[in-house]
Amino acid sequence: GVTSLTRIPPSVLRLHNKRDDAWAAFNGKVYNITPYLDFHPGGEELMRVAGRDGTKLFSLTHAWVNVDFMLDACLVGFLVAEPSS
Ligand code: HEM
Repeated sequence: GVTSLTRIPPSVLRLHNKRDDAWAAFNGKVYNITPYLDFHPGGEELMRVAGRDGTKLFSLTHAWVNVDFMLDACLVGFLVAEPSS
């Protein structure tokens, strides 16, 4: 459930930028895109957003695709601001 989801700052998101460990954020939600990479019709293009916030690029390429629905099972947590020190 939502309550068990993790709060993920950009510095943590950035660590997951490998083909076999890829996360990306869309509209404030962080997804593990690793399992979807093999099914993405645009193939490895999806790796462009690995480890970062892909919201802008996604809205430029195919805003009509429902990420929330398609990647629901891959939801990792919520993107939050970097904690200030
Ligand atoms: C198609 C790139 C993210 C789902 C495509 C195509 C490209 C592309 C180039 C066209 C492939 C072709 O027709 O030969 C990207 C880039 C992404 C991205 C650069 C980074 C933001 C995503 C995400 C999803 C997704 C997050 C869904 C979870 C799809 C689907 C299609 C597609 C369903 C085929 C349907 C359509 O083109 O309307 N993508 N993609 N993509 N992508 Fe992505």
